Amino acid sequence: MNNLSVDHLIGIKDLTREDIEIIFQTADSFKQVIQRPIKKVPSLRDITIANLFFENSTRTRLSFELAEKRLSADVVNFSAASSSVKKGETLVDTVNNILSMKVDMVVMRHPNPGAAKFLSERVDAKIVNAGDGTHEHPTQALLDSYSIREKLGTVEGKKVVIVGDILHSRVALSNIYALQKLGAEVMVCGPTTLIPRYIHELGVKVEHNLRKALEWCDVANMLRIQLERQDIQFFPSLREYSMLFGLDKNLLDSLDKEIVVMHPGPINRGVEITSDVADSKQSIILHQVENGVAVRMAVIYLLASKIER
Ligand code: CP
Repeated sequence: MNNLSVDHLIGIKDLTREDIEIIFQTADSFKQVIQRPIKKVPSLRDITIANLFFENSTRTRLSFELAEKRLSADVVNFSAASSSVKKGETLVDTVNNILSMKVDMVVMRHPNPGAAKFLSERVDAKIVNAGDGTHEHPTQALLDSYSIREKLGTVEGKKVVIVGDILHSRVALSNIYALQKLGAEVMVCGPTTLIPRYIHELGVKVEHNLRKALEWCDVANMLRIQLERQDIQFFPSLREYSMLFGLDKNLLDSLDKEIVVMHPGPINRGVEITSDVADSKQSIILHQVENGVAVRMAVIYLLASKIER
C-alpha cells in the first residue's frame, strides 16, 4: 500500500522510513513529469491549497506553488505582511476564514515552533509544515536526502556532516531525523555556542574542527548563520566564523576525496561557503532546488489522496 502513516506533514520525526521511501518513489515519477515539455498532471484538479507564509521565503514558497500548479490544484497565496494578522486576528481565526472558502490543504511557514502541529489539531484541513521557527523544515530534509540518494545512489551508510548554526536550524533537526531514518551516519560541526546542549541525545557525532569533519564525511551540508534568530552574539565576528567554519576551494581541494557539497539556501557567499565552492562541480545546490519541486509534489499528492472526495 502506497499510503503514508500520517495525515499531515508536521515533522520528519513523525515519519517512518517506509513513509520516506514512498515519498521518494512518488517523487521519482513526478521528476519525470517535470522534465517533459508539458510539466503538468491533472491529479489534483479538485483540490484547493492555501500557502500561508508568516515568515520570509523564496525557494520554499515558489517550490510549493509550482508543485501545486504542476498537480493542477487551485492555489491561493497568503503573506502575513499584507494580511489581517496585522490587525490582531489569531492564527486559527485566519485559517478558519480561509478554510470556509473551501480550502483542502494548508502549507504554512510560521516563526513559532509547534505552529503547524497546533493548527493540525484545530482545523479541518491537511497541514504541511513549510518551516516552524527553529523546530522542523520537513520538505527541506526530504529534498536533501532525495538529492543525496540521486547523487550517491543511496543514503544508507553515507556519512553526512551538517556544518554551522545547528542551534537555530530547523533544517539541521529535520535532516538529522531523515538521514538517521534512512541509515546514514550524521555529524554536526560548528562553534560550541551554536551546537545545542541536547545534541548527544540525537545520536549524532560532534566535531568542532571543520577539516576533520570534512575528512570524515561523504557529504557536507553547509548552513547559513541565522542572524535573524540570534538575540545575542554567539561568536566574535562573521570574519572569524568564516575563517574557522567557512568552506573555501583550497580546503575542498586539499581533501583526499571528492565530497558532495550541499546548502539549503539562502547562501551567504563568502561566509559559510565561497562562490567557487557553491558553483563547483562538487556542489549539488541547484539540484536540491530542482528536486524540491518533485518532492513537494509527492508530499502534496500523497496527503491529498487521504482527503475524502
Ligand atoms: N531553504 C529554504 O527554506 O529557503 P527559503 O527560506 O528561501 O524558503
